[in-house]
Amino acid sequence: MNTQEIRTRKRSRGADPLVVVTAYDVAGAHFADAAGVDMVLVGDSLANVVLGHSDTLHLSVDDMARHVAAVAAARPRAHVVADLPWPSYHEGPAQAVRSAAQLVRAGAESVKLEGGTKRAEVVRALLDAEIPVMGHLGLTPQSVLAMGGYRVQARSDDAARTLLEDALVLQESGVYAVVLEGVPTTVGRSVTEVLDIPTIGIGAGPDTDGQVLVFHDLLGLSLGRPAKFVRQYADLGTAITEAIGHYATDVRSGQFPSPAESYGDSSPGSPASE
Ligand code: KIV
Repeated sequence: MNTQEIRTRKRSRGADPLVVVTAYDVAGAHFADAAGVDMVLVGDSLANVVLGHSDTLHLSVDDMARHVAAVAAARPRAHVVADLPWPSYHEGPAQAVRSAAQLVRAGAESVKLEGGTKRAEVVRALLDAEIPVMGHLGLTPQSVLAMGGYRVQARSDDAARTLLEDALVLQESGVYAVVLEGVPTTVGRSVTEVLDIPTIGIGAGPDTDGQVLVFHDLLGLSLGRPAKFVRQYADLGTAITEAIGHYATDVRSGQFPSPAESYGDSSPGSPASE
């Protein structure tokens, strides 16, 4: 799916909600794509859920590019969008284009960046360089130090108005969609009503044009307490521990490997799978 198709996906015009999930490697991208998602986001949540950092501030463009390449190796039908990590676009348009081009060469079909009006110039420069851009407003994890923690945003009328203005500026600058994270349902709804491009919510209520969840949260693979907005659809963490526990028991009791799982002397050179 390309950004031209995504751009038109407004529920108010009868479109189905956009389904987005993060992915960080070839297996995750393969299984998400097989489930029929519309987009996979190589999110900078990579820093938290894969690399074990407590925030998203410890990630380089090289780190992102490596994981974008792994996701792209799955050749998903779903659109691959990659986060520009902090602070790979904060110095201005030239730096942003360099960073985004590295992610595109690794396999991204578009990039996502955080922030509103103050990013307009960077968004235009990326579009001038032919790189489609997705916006991200509300609880923007790259601003964790400035926000004083991970807090629901736009709760006051003033803050909600500012967020709406930011969304309109991003739309005018040419982004094809906007992620709304950690905002009241009323704000998710009103921004979605006002914008002509789709909104994709995470903790923004049910009225956005799509939803995104982090792969590890959705599957029960996250180590911390999940946020209120997470719905966990499987408990793979428990399943993994149980399966590896069974393996350990079988190794220790001599039940693994069995003769069927061992090679005989005949058929030299046969494939390892036979
Ligand atoms: O990095 C990420 O996973 C994200 C989503 C939470 C939207 O940006």
